[in-house]
Amino acid sequence: MLRALLSGLGWRGGIWGCTFTSWRPHLPLARLLNVTELVNHWTAVFEKRGIPEARESSEYIVAHVLGAKTFQSLRPELWTQPLTPWQLQYIQELSSYRLQRMPVQYILGEWDFQGLSLKMVPPVFIPRPETEELVEWVLEEVTQRSRVVRAQGGPLILEVGCGSGAISLSLLSKLPQSQVIAVDKGEAAICLANENAHRLQLQDRIRIIPLDVTLEDSWAHLLPWGPVDLIVSNPPYVFHRDMEQLAPEILSYEDPVALDGGEEGMDIISHILALAPRLLKDSGSIFLEVDPRHPELVGSWLQSRPDLFLDLVTVRRDFCGRPRFLHIQRSRPQRGCPADAWPVPQPPRVAG
Ligand SMILES: C[S@@+](CC[C@H](N)C(=O)[O-])C[C@H]1O[C@@H](n2cnc3c(N)ncnc32)[C@H](O)[C@@H]1O
Repeated sequence: MLRALLSGLGWRGGIWGCTFTSWRPHLPLARLLNVTELVNHWTAVFEKRGIPEARESSEYIVAHVLGAKTFQSLRPELWTQPLTPWQLQYIQELSSYRLQRMPVQYILGEWDFQGLSLKMVPPVFIPRPETEELVEWVLEEVTQRSRVVRAQGGPLILEVGCGSGAISLSLLSKLPQSQVIAVDKGEAAICLANENAHRLQLQDRIRIIPLDVTLEDSWAHLLPWGPVDLIVSNPPYVFHRDMEQLAPEILSYEDPVALDGGEEGMDIISHILALAPRLLKDSGSIFLEVDPRHPELVGSWLQSRPDLFLDLVTVRRDFCGRPRFLHIQRSRPQRGCPADAWPVPQPPRVAG
């Protein structure tokens, strides 16, 4: 979705500060008796008003009101069954939010990530599909080293900028031996991550800590929980100058703190890298989601900081072929550390 919404719609201003334009249905809705007609009706309304992903939006809203996750999964008998006045009114109300460019995920109040149903509340960042690829990569790496991980009873994972908890909770659900420390500076994110952890009954294996990683000595707050095997993050990485080109759905509803990475999108990335050596086990790794311009920037930044003993070992591409994920590794194991826990550093490799 981010790619679609990042495609330069160029809208300015926030919905919270605006007066909503009045909206009237184009057809008397009571005459629309079945779901297909209703989906077609709202698709046409959304298209006329320039709402992106008009049909998908309409299908999700109608399916949600009828108690299904997707339009395709609606029970066949519902296709011809007349809708009640309450259902019609509820669909109209939810559709009016979409006309105000609210993302479908916030309208429905929940969204699936890695097979987990997560509660979504604005302005907490909506997890994007590409982040599922980051999670899959981490799972692959952990599984490949499962002998070591099992022996250590882990892994212990730190997530920086947990938002709704999407990354942390999906790793916990797939790695039953794992434990996570999840930090975020946003109060709304901390509350939502806690709520999602409880909804999924994963609260016993996660510590959710309010923390701003840019504050001096922030790492000291994390020391009692470490050292960790892995640091994972989908940090704010949008270049500041690109922020104004984000779609209205993002600019109006999502917290800019979750997106704006400063001049070159490196503000939070550099803080994570600077604190990592203090928190990682000797053979530990960092997995990051970044902008396609970042592999080069991060590589140069690491070369300028040899004191950190971190190597960029692999760059991985997303489903569009863009270099979006980084594996960075601690390069100076201490004496006595298990040499096979993570691979020996090599020149950066760009994986498909
Ligand atoms: C792009 S969002 C990622 C959220 C979630 N991990 C996901 O992928 O859906 C970045 C997150 O980093 C948090 N964040 C931004 N600056 C931070 C800081 N200085 N310290 C800790 N968290 C921060 C934001 O509040 C936001 O929740």
